Amino acid sequence: MKLFTVGPVACYPRVLKAMGEQMYSHRSKEYIDLHYDTVKHLQNILETKNSIYLFSSTGTGFMEASVRNCVKKKVLVCVNGSFGKRFVDVAKANDKDVILIEPPLGVPIASELISEKLETDPEIEAVAITHNETSTGLINPLEELSKTVKDYGKLLFVDAVSSMGGTAINVDKWGIDICYSSSQKCFGVPPGLGVGSVSLNALAASKEAKNKGWYFDLAIWEKYHKEGKGTPMTSTIPQVAGMNAALKFIDENGGKNWVYNLYKERNKEIRNGLSDIGLFTYPQKGFESPTVNCINAPVEVKGVTVYEAMRDKGYELAQGYGALKETTFRMGNMGYIEDGSIRTMLTALGEVIDSL
Ligand SMILES: Cc1ncc(COP(=O)(O)O)c(C=O)c1O
Repeated sequence: MKLFTVGPVACYPRVLKAMGEQMYSHRSKEYIDLHYDTVKHLQNILETKNSIYLFSSTGTGFMEASVRNCVKKKVLVCVNGSFGKRFVDVAKANDKDVILIEPPLGVPIASELISEKLETDPEIEAVAITHNETSTGLINPLEELSKTVKDYGKLLFVDAVSSMGGTAINVDKWGIDICYSSSQKCFGVPPGLGVGSVSLNALAASKEAKNKGWYFDLAIWEKYHKEGKGTPMTSTIPQVAGMNAALKFIDENGGKNWVYNLYKERNKEIRNGLSDIGLFTYPQKGFESPTVNCINAPVEVKGVTVYEAMRDKGYELAQGYGALKETTFRMGNMGYIEDGSIRTMLTALGEVIDSL
């Protein structure tokens, strides 16, 4: 199967090789060197001096950590689809009051909507934004939205699960307090590792927080990070080794701009091909994700029918998700995609659409 999934994505062979190495202790010099080298590379990707923690969980662990450590009572959540809704569920499950911004699906968050809420409700302590909504294939104008949140002096949590390592994010300049992702998306590493940067303001909030539990207590993570121990508990060593190999691979090829450009070019080739076939992507024009395409299925054809027919041809795409499950299918351009396979995949898709 050739993978054009939206995560987990296919991994570069060198990543899988690095993950197959013999184990060592997470307190050994070998692991500590690997850990901090990985952190250094991630700081470079995110353009930040903030601490970066490597959670033995997927990205959702950082949603839990954000609300438990940094929100006493009230959080504003911007929802563009299923993963924004996930943040709402996590916040509510942790007994927080959630204020919502939820434009129609496919429409990005507007700064004015954020300032309106922050203006009228000073009790809001933090704002959560999904940078790239994987369920609808939409990317939000994060730099502009961050500026608005910071103008009001609020904490900012950014779900960058399907954008970190795939498009530019400038954590320090944009003032992002917690910016998190998962290994299985743009980095092309198997699932099981959550990565996130945490600001001094987020750590200050964590110090004050009650009922924050232990596993995701950011103050504890910071203590271990600063003492040079890496993680408070056993680390997912193979995933960290895989992530390290992926980050070094990016560096060898010229750094983060190389990979951003690669994803942009792949995405452009896919979108041009889709339009040649007569297919259209779902989100508002100008806000299409550079890593995940959410594609409207032809009228009277279910998204899953296209997905299944492509599997029969040896291509694993992704089904529609959430509210768009029936009417769309999705196609990622992250991770290990061999040269020429976008072209052959688009040819197969053209045949499928013709036959349907
Ligand atoms: C935008 C976004 N946020 C959050 C998640 C949840 O990530 P994980 O399953 O790694 O916890 C996903 C997973 O697809 C996602 O795409």
